[in-house]
Amino acid sequence: MQTLNRSNRCLKLRSIQSLVRLNHTKSTSNTPLEDSHSARTTSFGFRTVPEDLKESLVKNVFDSVASKYDLMNDATSFGVHRLWKDTLVSSLRPGRRGPMKCIDVGGGTGDIALRILDYAKDNHYDRETTVEVVDINAQMLKEGYKRFKQTMYHNTPQISFHEANAQDLGSEKFKDNSYDLYTIAFCIRNCTDISAVLKEAHRVLKPGGTFACLEFSRVSNPLLETLYDQYSFTVIPMMGTILAGDRDSYQYLVESIRKFPPQPQFAQMIRDVGFTTGKDVDGGAWVNQWGGIACIHTGVKL
Ligand SMILES: C[S@@+](CC[C@H](N)C(=O)[O-])C[C@H]1O[C@@H](n2cnc3c(N)ncnc32)[C@H](O)[C@@H]1O
Repeated sequence: MQTLNRSNRCLKLRSIQSLVRLNHTKSTSNTPLEDSHSARTTSFGFRTVPEDLKESLVKNVFDSVASKYDLMNDATSFGVHRLWKDTLVSSLRPGRRGPMKCIDVGGGTGDIALRILDYAKDNHYDRETTVEVVDINAQMLKEGYKRFKQTMYHNTPQISFHEANAQDLGSEKFKDNSYDLYTIAFCIRNCTDISAVLKEAHRVLKPGGTFACLEFSRVSNPLLETLYDQYSFTVIPMMGTILAGDRDSYQYLVESIRKFPPQPQFAQMIRDVGFTTGKDVDGGAWVNQWGGIACIHTGVKL
């Protein structure tokens, strides 16, 4: 049954990818992009696709990688993503002023949620902080749920999983002014409309609440940038083939990093929806990790 589901998913992914390749060929040959979806286009990695197709393409990428996601994360980053996530959570110090209501969007397999709950427990004896993990992809949430079954948080009000789109969480379920902390790690670059995600974050946070985003970003040192480019465009897709049997998804993930706005531009987008940030320098509105390979952006809702 699982194999059948997987081959169905692969077939679906392949057919969508063929459509994308077709569009890619059209756009590089200067033919206007014509399709039955919409006239507005966006990037899907280095390809240009109709805006309303991107969401299903991204969904398929994460459907395809879900079961191998944690393994691949460790393999492609040599475990460094763990350090960045630790840094994100310890910089936010959840629980320091008492229990917090947190939402982790694009939370996938629950890496950030688990760190938030562990941090609050280990540092502040806090077993009342809660995290709602939200993701557009049911497969990723399923992996997260399975993982939390092995923790003390399983079957407690501290953790819950919800399928929803970061761009429109839905105001029935995710109410205005209701969270102390909104986190989003390695998700926002996959979203079609980044400003819509930021507006939703601002809507659901309480006044005084914190927005925190961990995302791949821009490396400023030219030598590091060259090495990083070499590594990511050759080794990561190759590892995708060997370890997950899926080169295309990992090629997309690498390409999507290069399409994400650089630090100052993203900081401005965060301010544009109403957050206050620090100054436009490393250590202010953002804190680079490993020379900007990844970056933590924060903002506060006034
Ligand atoms: C690279 S994974 C990161 C998962 C987790 N935050 C982590 O750091 O390990 C990106 C996640 O974002 C989710 N995602 C992509 N687009 C989304 C959207 N529009 N709304 C909600 N989740 C989305 C994907 O399904 C995937 O689980």
